Amino acid sequence: IAHDGTRIFSLTAQTGQSRIHPAGPTPSWGYNGAFAGPSLRAAEGDRVRIVVRNELPETTTVHWHGLKLPAQYDGGPHQPIAPGEEWIAEWEIEQPAATCWYHPHTHGTTEAQVTRGLMGLFILQDELSEWSGLPIDYGVDDVPVLVTDRSFNADGTFAARERTAFGLLGDTVIVNGALSPTFEVTRALTRLRLLNGSSARTYHFVVQGAPMTLVGTEAGLLPDPTPINSVTLTPGERAEVLVELEPGQTAMLQSVPHSLGLLQSTSRAAGAEDRFDVLELRAASSFAGPDLTIAGLGMIAQVLPPPLEAPDVTRSMVLTNNQINGATMEMSRVDQVVTVGARERWVIDNQHHLPHNLHIHNARFLVVSVDGEPPRDYERGWKDTVYAPPGRPVIIDVEFGRSADPEWPYMFHCHWLMHHDMGMMGQFVVI
Ligand code: C2O
Ligand code: CU
Ligand code: CU
Repeated sequence: IAHDGTRIFSLTAQTGQSRIHPAGPTPSWGYNGAFAGPSLRAAEGDRVRIVVRNELPETTTVHWHGLKLPAQYDGGPHQPIAPGEEWIAEWEIEQPAATCWYHPHTHGTTEAQVTRGLMGLFILQDELSEWSGLPIDYGVDDVPVLVTDRSFNADGTFAARERTAFGLLGDTVIVNGALSPTFEVTRALTRLRLLNGSSARTYHFVVQGAPMTLVGTEAGLLPDPTPINSVTLTPGERAEVLVELEPGQTAMLQSVPHSLGLLQSTSRAAGAEDRFDVLELRAASSFAGPDLTIAGLGMIAQVLPPPLEAPDVTRSMVLTNNQINGATMEMSRVDQVVTVGARERWVIDNQHHLPHNLHIHNARFLVVSVDGEPPRDYERGWKDTVYAPPGRPVIIDVEFGRSADPEWPYMFHCHWLMHHDMGMMGQFVVI
């Protein structure tokens, strides 16, 4: 923390050898380490300065996914960091508690860089949620769960993954850089911050052996914690859930087969037919520490606003084969111009036979409807990435950050990373 109160972080993108697999070291990339990166933590109102050093053999960028911030610090393809160079992003956190993340966002090589291990969580806190009784002891009762998939060779090195219509699909799940991890639970209530950091795989999370309560979606907490049986996350999506255990009890976070509303062959290619044990929760024989319970939670977030009655602007986003509104990403073309403070409604119409999702930078949104129906439970909070099922239009009300800049664009795109790299992306400026 600097004398003026700015929170300073330093991230070095580097190559390394990680200990993921028992058979031997895995050459991989990470931030400040060999695989993935530290969880950054800041609170609403904080000024943050992040110094990024690139010690990789190629150009990279670091994008702060879920953050509202000035476009010049967004970390997209317009802010490349050459090997050996440093880049500094600095802004004031203008949004409430959420589980955001960071990852490379280079033009055309994002999937390859994320695959080598470049990703980390960016946790935002706020006062309301801190006083609400939600678990906030990082690594004790507040647990990051970064889920990705890879395939391995017999010597523990990464093997080429299967390439499907959605990108690279691995046969093994890695959680926070570990295979089949167990978390030792020492308190009654555990908060899991789930991130789907995969290129192509969709997860359908359930907890076997204990009830699960949804407390947050990507871009914010829910005013009303909701008991829930399962949460589906497409690439880039997050959720926060609470699991309450008795001393001595165990439970298993799993991803189980599910329907994405697709043909069977498509569903398999999206990884929707697989089953994985993701994280075992094993409670100690007695608990210490604060006695938090779901029943004892106070107010954790502001009430969600109702759907806009009269949006200032309505935009339509037609998704087809690797295109949005008939175009692929062009660095020099601005596709949409947003007025700062405008309350916008976007209609996402996936006219392709494959599933896609849509992520919008510098924004959070609420899902109004999916094919005319209300959103499912786990889509009923602030989000920044939403699943767009084939043939079923998704309507969202979007709230952008407060920065304006006519020069630097932000992006909106499909977060299946192969589609991202193939240019299923557009640019907007906020003026
Ligand atoms: Cu997580 Cu534009 O990306
Ligand atoms: Cu983003
Ligand atoms: Cu896509």
